[in-house]
Amino acid sequence: MHRSIAITGATGFMGRVVLKRLTSMGCHVRALIRPASMHKRPTQVVPEWVTGDLEDMESLRRLVDGVDGVVHCAGVVRGAGRMDFERINVAGVARLVLAAHAQPSKPRFFLISSLAAREPHLSHYAASKRNGEKALTINAGRMPWVIFRPPAVYGPEDREILPLFRWMYRGIAPVIGSAETRISLLYVEDLAEAIVCCVKRITGVGRSYEMHDGHTGGYSWEDVIDAIARINGRTIYRIKVPVPLVRLAASLNVAVSRMCGQAPMLTPGKVRELTHPDWVGDHTALTRDTGWVPKVTLHEGLRRTLQGRYGK
Ligand SMILES: NC(=O)c1ccc[n+]([C@@H]2O[C@H](COP(=O)([O-])OP(=O)(O)OC[C@H]3O[C@@H](n4cnc5c(N)ncnc54)[C@H](OP(=O)(O)O)[C@@H]3O)[C@@H](O)[C@H]2O)c1
Repeated sequence: MHRSIAITGATGFMGRVVLKRLTSMGCHVRALIRPASMHKRPTQVVPEWVTGDLEDMESLRRLVDGVDGVVHCAGVVRGAGRMDFERINVAGVARLVLAAHAQPSKPRFFLISSLAAREPHLSHYAASKRNGEKALTINAGRMPWVIFRPPAVYGPEDREILPLFRWMYRGIAPVIGSAETRISLLYVEDLAEAIVCCVKRITGVGRSYEMHDGHTGGYSWEDVIDAIARINGRTIYRIKVPVPLVRLAASLNVAVSRMCGQAPMLTPGKVRELTHPDWVGDHTALTRDTGWVPKVTLHEGLRRTLQGRYGK
């Protein structure tokens, strides 16, 4: 059992749920926070905050000093160019791994990668997640590590897929790409539980794990739309959006975001990710090695997300 854990990304969507779960199992948690993000500190839990940045080695050394484990949830999910992602998703991983590896205790390192790492050719984001995994395995030396490759993760405070679910909940479903596309999904609390299961157990060292919500074979977008229709009890109108139009919108979005100095979510690479036919994960190895089983079904997760405390 790891008693002292360093975490990154604790102000983000996934990281704050993982932080809460680690704290509730009695770990002493030290969390990295950027000075400009102090206002995003979760209020229900009080870890030991370390002010710093993945680009500042000195702060990473303070973060991992004497810990038993490092849970690396921080990452960049929006951006236009390769370097927007590589700076943090690759160089940031390498820096944190080196800081952890320098510890005499050789803490276990848990990296939140992505199923996107399976298809690095699709986008700068996907390539950065694959290269981030390499940055870990190359620099880890004898330090034990685990890589997680979650599929699309959703929950009440998500900013990526939740806007789409909310459109569907209001009755409009933009449908992009082919009806054959299949995706795995995972509710954020089940992701946190999977990480905690690995932190608690010794198995799975030097392993990479995929995961999903227990629905083997994933979902079609029609399955997701039907699930949301069952929750709100109304008809959802499908609007087929031609892929070339989405590509054009993505290119324009990148240009406008550059002018405004913002990091875009919809990019040509994101369109290639969205239209990729196979985002189905497999959690057999994770369950075998740790006993983790997902608890939240798509219906329950969507209900909590769209009608729960934070639902709109
Ligand atoms: N969301 C998904 O569906 C999904 C699926 C698979 C994998 N993932 C991976 O999971 C990880 C977390 O995703 P998320 O959805 O929770 O993202 P998020 O909500 O955008 O959170 C990102 C976190 O990373 C931190 N961060 C970014 N740049 C940093 C830097 N230079 N130094 C220190 N911290 C920095 C952010 O800190 P600030 O608050 O200071 O910005 C924030 O805490 C990412 O690695 C992502 O690739 C996400």
